[in-house]
Amino acid sequence: MNFIGTHILSVSQFDRAAIEEIFVVADQMEPYAQRQKVTRVLEGAILGSMFFEPSTRTRVSFGCAFNLLGGEVRETTEVKASSISKGESFYDTARVLSGYSDVIVMRHEIEGSVDEFAQASRVPVLNGGDGTNEHPSQALLDLYTIRKELATQGKNIDNLRIALIGDLKYGRAVHSLCKLLTLYNNIHFTLISPPELALPASYIKAIKAAGHDIVESNDLQQSIRHADILYLTRTQEERFPSQSEADKYKGLFRLNQAIYTEFCEPNTVIMHPLPRDSRIDAKELDDDMNNNPNLAIFRQTDNGVLIRMALFALILDVTDQVDKHARNVNWYTAKRF
Ligand code: CP
Repeated sequence: MNFIGTHILSVSQFDRAAIEEIFVVADQMEPYAQRQKVTRVLEGAILGSMFFEPSTRTRVSFGCAFNLLGGEVRETTEVKASSISKGESFYDTARVLSGYSDVIVMRHEIEGSVDEFAQASRVPVLNGGDGTNEHPSQALLDLYTIRKELATQGKNIDNLRIALIGDLKYGRAVHSLCKLLTLYNNIHFTLISPPELALPASYIKAIKAAGHDIVESNDLQQSIRHADILYLTRTQEERFPSQSEADKYKGLFRLNQAIYTEFCEPNTVIMHPLPRDSRIDAKELDDDMNNNPNLAIFRQTDNGVLIRMALFALILDVTDQVDKHARNVNWYTAKRF
């Protein structure tokens, strides 16, 4: 795949070779993310960061990744802070903002909105999440995390046993991850959700067509016994027709340390795209697991910086220049990894 100047809108753009290329560049970014080295390879470049839906990690880690490569970030957050609230189209907004930026990352609640924006943009656009559709950089960082976690156990992604748990209907991170996993061999999917929040039929069809196993269940405890990875999700209440409808599913599946100890194989890795819902009536991933060494959720968020740095380096064609611009840091650096 030629990444240079490319929009990143869907994980369907990638094959296994492209994913491997991203992961190799992500590995190269570790000394910069760990603050051992500084590079200014993108000095003078500007990232337009446009988040029209709430975000903590995607927005900040995209910005942080661009800063770590030496670039500047210009943020627009919320529709009301943009002239979209005065009726301006995605087309006009994209024509204008692509004149101010070298690359743009965008999140919006409407499926296909980032695609529409990208068609009018004069610079590459990365999808930071479009409605229930896709979240490509999240799926890449999840897959990168799965690969790293399994490697510590002498396993690889082929033959993975993964349980996807919670709101599989509206969870775009799950949708993108399922698409990526179908590129590997002999994946065993256990889909644990209430029937009303099941993974959409198109994803199930694609997984089966690629020759993988699927078991669907609404029994958490009996279905997590033989998984390498548990991937939990919160109820995406902002996507439901009403709050009362969303409330029916809150707290339905909860993983805590007691359930983990009784029902999971040792070293089962626990993942979640975050945010987890820590309110008392939700708690799909209990705080009492915070000290479990198999909890990979903050390794996921750290890996997000590496993946997003890699995407910028590939799209802006600087992978072979990153180290040439490097120097050691000259300030105190806490150990993060
Ligand atoms: N995982 C994720 O997309 O988190 P944010 O909504 O905080 O960006």
